[in-house]
Amino acid sequence: MSGAGPVTRAFDAAASRYEAHAGPQAHAAARLAARLSELPLPEAPRILEIGCGTGFLTRHLASLDPRATILATDRSLAMLRVARANLAGHGGISFAAMDGERLAAGGGFDLITANLAWQWFFDPFEAVERCRALLNPGGWLAFSTLGEANFAEWRALCAVRGLPHGLRDYPSLAAWRSRFPAPCLITEERHPTTYPSALAFLRALRAIGAQAPVSGHRPAPAGALRRVLRGQEAGFRSSYHFLHVLIQSY
Ligand SMILES: C[S@@+](CC[C@H](N)C(=O)[O-])C[C@H]1O[C@@H](n2cnc3c(N)ncnc32)[C@H](O)[C@@H]1O
Repeated sequence: MSGAGPVTRAFDAAASRYEAHAGPQAHAAARLAARLSELPLPEAPRILEIGCGTGFLTRHLASLDPRATILATDRSLAMLRVARANLAGHGGISFAAMDGERLAAGGGFDLITANLAWQWFFDPFEAVERCRALLNPGGWLAFSTLGEANFAEWRALCAVRGLPHGLRDYPSLAAWRSRFPAPCLITEERHPTTYPSALAFLRALRAIGAQAPVSGHRPAPAGALRRVLRGQEAGFRSSYHFLHVLIQSY
């Protein structure tokens, strides 16, 4: 079911313009897809995608194996509508509204994957365990998420000016590695992105639906925010910190 919480509402509202502003997300999807293409999946694999959005990763999945059966899911109905249109004509793909933390998809998957949806979960580690239980023996869980240094520049700027940044705190690379040690493989990638200004950075987040603040966040008064943004009009660098997680079921 599509939830009506602030996160889903923000992605619903952004669905139609998402791809025009989601360069870093497209980049992460391509990186993840390259890893998936190297996995020794069985013929005609059963694949579950969580948080498919408009289908950046789904398009890569569609070309992995033409006999694959792909169930692409998301909580946002508007995102699913766009994904369906983007994937029209590709056989073997079905779409369903589903909460990635409460999957109602049965089991028996050879691959469960997600590009940049995990960071929205309340309990990202528990979600891993739930997905593991849905994999065939030898099946794979492979996803990208965000690490502790995501948007470090914006966090630092807000800290200096005493303004709450409103961003979520994500488990660190070290925490992921400690919870899921080798042979689980967890790697990181820094992806710096430059915006015309700090305000443009905040607008870009809104344009992709990623602006929903951490729960309990009290927005800063407009004047305080203006003071933070002042002086950041000649280019603002904000870096994504991607984590790529690869886990095989026993
Ligand atoms: C940043 S977008 C990424 C979309 C897509 N995977 C891509 O690569 O462009 C995050 C997506 O995760 C979805 N999402 C967030 N929380 C979710 C949850 N609990 N269950 C399922 N989908 C969720 C959002 O609706 C949104 O479509």
